[in-house]
Amino acid sequence: MKLRLTEVVEKIRDLESQAFEPLCAYIYDLPALQQHAAYLVGTLPESCELFYAVKANSDLPILQTLAPIVAGFEVSSGGELAWVRKYFPEKPVIFSGPGKIDQELDQAIHQNVDCVHVESINELQRLASLSIRAEKSISILLRVNIAIDNLAATTLMMGGKPTPFGISIQDLPECISWIQAHPEIRLYGFHFHLLSHQLDAEAHLQLIELYLKQARLWCEIYGIKINHINVGGGIGINYRQPEQQFDWEIFSSKLKLLLSNCGLPEIRVRFELGRYVTAACGYYVMQVIDIKKNFDQNFIVGRGGSHHFRTPYAQGHSHPFYVVPINTWQYPFPRPEISNEKVNVVGQLCTPKDLISFDSPVISVRCGDMLVFPYAGAYAWHISHHDFLRHPHPQQLFLPLKE
Ligand SMILES: Cc1ncc(COP(=O)(O)O)c(C=O)c1O
Repeated sequence: MKLRLTEVVEKIRDLESQAFEPLCAYIYDLPALQQHAAYLVGTLPESCELFYAVKANSDLPILQTLAPIVAGFEVSSGGELAWVRKYFPEKPVIFSGPGKIDQELDQAIHQNVDCVHVESINELQRLASLSIRAEKSISILLRVNIAIDNLAATTLMMGGKPTPFGISIQDLPECISWIQAHPEIRLYGFHFHLLSHQLDAEAHLQLIELYLKQARLWCEIYGIKINHINVGGGIGINYRQPEQQFDWEIFSSKLKLLLSNCGLPEIRVRFELGRYVTAACGYYVMQVIDIKKNFDQNFIVGRGGSHHFRTPYAQGHSHPFYVVPINTWQYPFPRPEISNEKVNVVGQLCTPKDLISFDSPVISVRCGDMLVFPYAGAYAWHISHHDFLRHPHPQQLFLPLKE
């Protein structure tokens, strides 16, 4: 997604001119999101469907922007399902996630879910009992955790090794026999989500090829027919080197060939992407409150912190940022400033873990300037511990879609 910094900076200046205290805000660029999502859907091969994993950012304007573009939403809790169903009663929904309780499975049966991604034999059996009681059949995908030789690891692995996610292949025969004896459960296919933060398009293509091969093999071994394979989410954002992002153009063009050669001509391939859809539409903005040196290090203290924007701490990176100079200074004493030095950017929390950027070179930052952190539209506000220290929540602004 191309960042529209000019529009974002204009909004920041506008907000700052009206603010009566240091500013802290999230700004989401809905036109950029709309364009990006349409590009992703438009470049995927015919046989693919793009679902949006709402856990990345479930704000209503984000979902409203995406709903006319994506094939559906992927939810991972009863809360997300209720939220999506309240506003999008007809939109196809996939229900995945570990540890689903009976009430959530029942919700899936009654709330017109396209399919449930089943995580264990016990979950499968509970779903079957609930579906018999409701006298409604339910479609499922079995989420399977498989070992892959020489799997190139990313910084966040959900499978390919022991994890709480998915069904082990040792349990697969029992699951298939169970399904064959229970017509209330319709097996649509298999679901794989082995990793997140994938930055390498070629490696992702290889992974998908292996998923498809594996699924075809299971169809032969178990004599089953499937119509869907869900290849998960997991396409990453390069926070450390933002100019080197996942090469979607290569990925989508080579995917076409891969799918036409995979020997599964009827199959629908679903993606459930979160981060790659919304990360680049969001910006976290902190106004500089203080600048100081402690021992040999420089610290810039911004309004807000990791209780709003936990992404850098969660991923262990130093988040890149832009400085938007603000020219007003209301005090009679000199304005603190730092030039041509490396800085650490922290927030207002009483913990050294409240670190957003570290060892970041800056040309010039003054108290009162704005720091703008891009790629803050996914797993940012929604994964943060908002009420720690009871600071106020940041403003949430959405650059509007054009009529
Ligand atoms: C099962 C599953 N699907 C999809 C996603 C979305 O992943 P991403 O945001 O990396 O695309 C996740 C994220 O944790 C997940 O666990």
